[in-house]
Amino acid sequence: SNRIMLGPLVAAIDQGTSSTRFLVFNARTAELLSHHQVEIKQSFPKEGWVEEDPKEILQSVYECMDRTCEKLTQLNIDISNIKAIGVTNQRETTLVWDKETGEPLYNAIVWLDLRTQSTVERLINKTPGRNKNHLKHKTGLPISTYFSAVKLRWLMDNVTEVHEAVLSHRAMFGTVDSWLIWCLTGGKKGGVHCTDVTNASRTMLFNIHTMDWDPDLCKYFDIPMEILPKVRSSSEIYGLMKICSSLKSGSLTGVPISGCLGDQSAALVGQMCFQDGQAKNTYGTGCFLLRNTGSKPVMSDHGLLTTVAYKLGRDKPPCYALEGSVAIAGAVVRWLKDNLGIIQTSSELEKLAAGVGTSYGCYFVPAFSGLYAPYWEPSARGIICGLTQFTNRSHLAFAALEAVCFQTREILDAMNQDSGIPLNQLQVDGGMTSNRLLMQLQADILCIPVVKPSMPETTALGAAMAAGAAEGVSVWSLNPEDLTEVTSEKFEPQINPEESEFRYARWKKAVQRAMNWET
Ligand code: G3P
Repeated sequence: SNRIMLGPLVAAIDQGTSSTRFLVFNARTAELLSHHQVEIKQSFPKEGWVEEDPKEILQSVYECMDRTCEKLTQLNIDISNIKAIGVTNQRETTLVWDKETGEPLYNAIVWLDLRTQSTVERLINKTPGRNKNHLKHKTGLPISTYFSAVKLRWLMDNVTEVHEAVLSHRAMFGTVDSWLIWCLTGGKKGGVHCTDVTNASRTMLFNIHTMDWDPDLCKYFDIPMEILPKVRSSSEIYGLMKICSSLKSGSLTGVPISGCLGDQSAALVGQMCFQDGQAKNTYGTGCFLLRNTGSKPVMSDHGLLTTVAYKLGRDKPPCYALEGSVAIAGAVVRWLKDNLGIIQTSSELEKLAAGVGTSYGCYFVPAFSGLYAPYWEPSARGIICGLTQFTNRSHLAFAALEAVCFQTREILDAMNQDSGIPLNQLQVDGGMTSNRLLMQLQADILCIPVVKPSMPETTALGAAMAAGAAEGVSVWSLNPEDLTEVTSEKFEPQINPEESEFRYARWKKAVQRAMNWET
C-alpha cells in the first residue's frame, strides 16, 4: 500500500528511573517519528530503600516496542526500515540474575537506594584519613551509596539466592543496560552479557584510565570478576534482536542492538556536546550536569565526578566528562503528588507555583537520599524551613521548583570553579524542561540564559545516533557538519543578580541545616 518512503530509521530504548520509552527517529533528519512511554513502579520496602522489578522493566520495553510499532504502521511507515536499536538507561541501578533460568535473583536496587549507608560509612572509616575519595584516582568517584559496587556487595551478603548463584557460577551482574541487552539478544539461550564504558564507569569497579574492570577494585569490594559483563564501546553491534513470545511485533527480529550509553552520556551526545567545554543539564528523576572534558579525565576539587562521557566505536578514543549529580529533581514532584497529595498530576505543579510566583521565604531541601554533588553527604535528610502561618501549598510547590534550580546552581558553580572557564549559557533537556516556570526560574537563579532544544527527547536521540553510527550499520553520520541543525528556545534571566544572590544565600543556609541530620 502507500508506504511513506523515509529512508533508514533508528530506534532507541530509554529505560529511565521513572519510565521506559521506545522511540523511532529518521536517521537522515533526526526527526522523532513515533514513541510510546510506560511508567515504572517503584517500591520502598523500608525507609531509604528503593527497588524496581526487573521483569516489569523488561515487560515495559516490550510493551513500548509493540505500541510504537503499531503507531508507525498506522502512520504507514514500514517497520522494516528500522536498521538499529540503541539502549540508554538509568545508571548504577544494580541487578543479579541466574544465567541458567534467566530469572532475576532479587529486585533491581535503584541508584537512589540508601540501604548501603552503613557499609559506605564502614568503608570510609577504614581508609587512611577517613577519605571518601580514596578510590577516586582510579574510578573518578567518591565512595558513596550511589554506585553499583556497594549494592552488589549488599546483594551477595544478604540475599541467599544471590550468594548461592555466585558460588555455583550461575550469577550474572549487570546494570539495566546489561539486563536488557542480555534478554533482548536471547537471554538464557545465548544472550550477550555486556555493558558499555559509560555504564561501567558508574560501578566503582571500572578503571577509567585503563578502560577496563580493575582487579584491585574487585578485590576491595570482594566481587568475583566472572559475574561482570564484558565491557564494550558505546557504539558497536553487541548482538541481534531475537524472536520472543512477549513481543508481538516480530518485525524487530534480527535488528542489531548497536548503541549503549548511560542516560546522562546519551543526553550529552544527543545535545551534540562533542567539544571540550560543552555541557548539558538533564532534569529527570534526578538532575545531572555533564561537561565534556575531551580526551583527558579531569579530577574535580569541588565535589564533582569524573566519568566516561562516551566512546563512539571500538577503535575510537574515549571522551571524558565532569559531572555534577543531583539525586532529587523530578522525584520531588512525584513526592508532592504521591506522598503529600497536594497535586493530582505532575503537570499541575507549574500552575500551582505560578499562582503565587514566590516561595514567600520557604526553602525546601529534598535531601531524600542524602545529598549528592557537591557534598556527598549520605546522612543529610530533607527539610522544609522558613514556614509561617501564611505559607500554603502553592509556596511549597514554588519552593520545590526553586530547589531544583538551586541544586543546579551549586553544581554549575562547582563546574565553573573546576574548569576556570564559566559557562555563559546552559543547555538543558529532560522531562521537567516542559515546565516553563522552572526554566525561567533556572535562568534567574543561574544569572545566565537557559537553552532548551525544541525536540525534548535528547537522551533517546543520543542512543539512536550511537546505534545508527555503529560499524556495520552506518546509517547515521556523527560528523558535526552532517548533523541536523536543532531549533531551540532561550530563557533569559529576568531578575537582578542581587536578588538572585540573596535567595541563593538563604538556600545555602537551608542546606547546612539538612546536613549531618543523623549524626
Ligand atoms: O545516575 C542516575 C541517572 O542515570 C538516572 O537518570 O533520568 O532516570 O533521573 P534519570
